[in-house]
Amino acid sequence: MHQTFRERFFDAMEDGIAILGATPELARNSDTEYRYRPESAFWHLTGLDEPDAIAVFQRSGNTRRFLLFVRPKDPSMELWTGRRLGPEGAVKELGATEAWALEEFPVKLDDLLKGHDRLFLPLDGGSLQSQVLGALNRLVRKRRQPGPLPGEIRDVRRVTGELRLRKSAAELAWMEKAAKVTGEAFREVYRLTKPGLAEYQLRAVFPFIYGIHGGDWAFETIVAAGANACTLHYVSCRDRLKKGELVLFDAGAEMGFYAADVTRTIPVDGRFTKRQEQVYRVVLKAHKAAVDTVRPGVTIDEVHGAATIAITEGLLELGILKGKLKTLVSKGAFRPWFPHGTSHWLGLDVHDTGDYALDVEPRRLEEGMVITVEPGLYLGADDKRVPQPLRGMGIRIEDDVLVTATGHRVLTDDIPREPRDIEAAMATKARYLKALALPEPVKAAKPRSASTRTRAVKK
Ligand code: GLY
Ligand code: MN
Ligand code: MN
Repeated sequence: MHQTFRERFFDAMEDGIAILGATPELARNSDTEYRYRPESAFWHLTGLDEPDAIAVFQRSGNTRRFLLFVRPKDPSMELWTGRRLGPEGAVKELGATEAWALEEFPVKLDDLLKGHDRLFLPLDGGSLQSQVLGALNRLVRKRRQPGPLPGEIRDVRRVTGELRLRKSAAELAWMEKAAKVTGEAFREVYRLTKPGLAEYQLRAVFPFIYGIHGGDWAFETIVAAGANACTLHYVSCRDRLKKGELVLFDAGAEMGFYAADVTRTIPVDGRFTKRQEQVYRVVLKAHKAAVDTVRPGVTIDEVHGAATIAITEGLLELGILKGKLKTLVSKGAFRPWFPHGTSHWLGLDVHDTGDYALDVEPRRLEEGMVITVEPGLYLGADDKRVPQPLRGMGIRIEDDVLVTATGHRVLTDDIPREPRDIEAAMATKARYLKALALPEPVKAAKPRSASTRTRAVKK
C-alpha cells in the first residue's frame, strides 16, 4: 500500500527534495508519554509507526530515492519500549533506498539539499521546518561552488493532501472497517442508554468496543445530554442523562489509522416525544437532502446548500423563522441554529487534509473521495427566539459518504437513524456488556473535613 502511495507521490512532486517528519514522542505528565500515533502523511508515505523519524524523497529525472532516518537499534532501550526497526529494518521491511540512524540527519542534511532546485517541506512552523531552512540558509550564505540549491520552497502538505483525497481500494477497506466497528459501538450504546447514567459512562463504551475489535478512537468522543448538545464540541461529559431528554453521540473508531466520524441523537428513555420527533425530522430531512446530492461533479457547497434549504424550511415550520424561504436561505438566516458546515473530508485524519477550493473554481467531488454529511439544529436552552417547548434540544445526524462512479455509498448506513429504527434498536439487549451492568456513576470524591478526619483517628 505505502509503496504505491510513494510512487504516486514521486509522480506528483516534480523534481526536487521532499522532507517529512514523524510525530515526536509527546510528554503527558512527569515521565509518562501520550500513546504514539504517527503523523498521517508520514504514515501514508512510509508505513513507519515509530516516533521521531524523518523521511526524505529525492527525485531527479528518472532517479527516485526514498531515504529514512530512524531511531537506531538499542537493546537496552528496546527492553523498555519495544522493538525498533533500525536502519537495516527500514531498508528491508519498508523498502527504503537507504536508511541511517536519526543522529545522521543533521550531518547529511547539507549534502541532501545540494543539487536540488526545489524543496518540499511541511510549512507548519514546526522544528523540522526551522532545522531544514536553517541549514539551507547557511548553505546559501557560504556558497562558493557552483551548483543548484533549493530556491523554490513549497508546502509538501499541498501534495500529500491532494493524494490522500482519493482513496485507494486498500484505504477504503480500512475505512469500511472503521465504519463497521463504529456501528458496533453505536448499537451497543443505543441498548445501554437509559435515564440516570452519566455521560462519561456511555462515553467509556465507545473505546471499549473499538478496542476489542483492534481499533482505537479517531477523536475525543462527545456524549451530550439535553442542552449540552448545543455546545458543538462538548467533551467534558460529566452530567447525568435525564428522562425526557435527547442525548447526542459524536464518535468514531480508527482502524489502521483510518477514521470514521458518526453522530446520532436518540431519546434517553427509548421513545421520541412528538416534539422531539418533529425537530429530529427536520434534521433527518436535511441529512437526506444533502446525502442525495453527493455524486461526482458536485461541490461541497452544493451539498451544504441542500442541507441549508431543508433546515430553513424546518425553521419556518417550527415557527422559529418567518419570511420567504429563498430570501432566508440567501441571507443565511439559519446560521444561529445551524452554525457549522455540512461536510469535511474524512480519511487518515478525521478532518482530513486536501484543499476545499481550487485556485480558479470550486473543487468538485470525484470517485473515491469520502466526506461526512452532518447537518444539525441547536435550539439553546435560553434562546428566546425559539418556542419554549423546543428549547434545549441539540440534534445532529452525521454519516460517512463515499463518492462512487455514479453517485455515493453511505459507509455508516447500518447505524439506525430513522426514529422507529432507533427505538427498536434501543429496546434490544446489550450484546457486549450484558454481563456488566453499568455501575452507578461515581460521585466526585470530596476531601473530608479536618474535623471528620480527627474523629476517625480518635476512633
Ligand atoms: N467529530 C468532529 C466532527 O464531526 O467534525
Ligand atoms: Mn464530522
Ligand atoms: Mn463528528
